[in-house]
Amino acid sequence: MTAAIMDGLAVSKETRARLQGRVEALRCAGTTPGLAVLIVGENPASKVYVRNKAKACGEIGMHSEIHEYPGDATEATVLAKIAELNADPRIHGILVQLPLPKHFDVDNVLETISPHKDVDGFHKESLGALMSGNPTFQPCTPHGVMVILDHYGIPLAGVDAVVVGRSNIVGKPQALMLLARDATVTICTSKTKDLAAHTRRADVLVVAVGRPGVVTGDMIKPGAAVVDVGINRTAEGKLVGDVDFESAKQVAGWLTPVPGGVGPMTITMLLANTVRSAELAAGLPSPKF
Ligand code: GUN
Repeated sequence: MTAAIMDGLAVSKETRARLQGRVEALRCAGTTPGLAVLIVGENPASKVYVRNKAKACGEIGMHSEIHEYPGDATEATVLAKIAELNADPRIHGILVQLPLPKHFDVDNVLETISPHKDVDGFHKESLGALMSGNPTFQPCTPHGVMVILDHYGIPLAGVDAVVVGRSNIVGKPQALMLLARDATVTICTSKTKDLAAHTRRADVLVVAVGRPGVVTGDMIKPGAAVVDVGINRTAEGKLVGDVDFESAKQVAGWLTPVPGGVGPMTITMLLANTVRSAELAAGLPSPKF
C-alpha cells in the first residue's frame, strides 16, 4: 500500500480563502481584525515564525503588529504591553511567541492575556473550556490537525487514536479534541514502556515529540491515518518530521508530509481564531470550525 498524502498546504489555502471572505465582511461592517504578536529575545526560528504570522495576516486583509523586546527585557515591561493591548479595540488577538527567556514566568504571562483575545488558546480559561467540551479558542496546531482529518473524511468516532507526545501546546489538547469526537484516545510519553505496541493499534496516529524517526513504518497499523506534527532540521539542513516518511508511506493509508502537512495549518488556525474573535467583538455571527 502507498499512503494517500494529506496535503496541509492545500487545506490551508482553501481555509484561508474562506477566512478572507469573512475578513471582507468584517471590514464592510467597520472592523478590521487585528493580531498583536509579542516576541522577546533573539531566537532565529521564533523570528521567522513571527514574521510569517504577520505576513499571513496581511495576505487576507487583517491588521497585524509585532512588538519586539530584547532578551533582557523585564517581565513587567511585557505585562504592561499586554495590558495595553487587552484594552485596545483594534486588537482582537494577542500572541506571545514561545519560548520566553528563562527569567519569565510563562504561566503568568499567558494568564495576563484577556481570554477574549487568547487566539493561541493557551490561557487556562481556554484550556478549561476545551476540557469541558465547550471550547472557545482552541490551540492552533492540534486544531489544524482536526481540520486536516475532517477535510479528508477520516472517521474519528469509535476509532483507536494514539497521540505520541503530551505537550501543553499539542499532545494534551490534541487528545481532548479527539476525545470530544468520540475516539478512544491513548497518550504516549517518553516513558511509555512499549511505544510500538500502542502505535500499532492506532487507526489515527498523531506524532508530536520533536524527534526525527520516532515512528517508523513497522510501528504503523496498515491503512492508518498518520499525522506528523514534528518539524526537525537534520545536520544537512533538511526539514523532516517525527515520522520516517519513506517507511510510513508503505504502510499508512493516509499520511501528512513535512514540510507541507500540519505546519501551514498552525498559522491558518491562528488567523481563524483572530477572525472569530473580531466577529464576536463586533456582534456578528461566527461559524465554528
Ligand atoms: N512556539 C511554537 N509554537 C507556538 C505557538 O503555537 N504559539 C506560540 N505563541 N508560540 C509558539
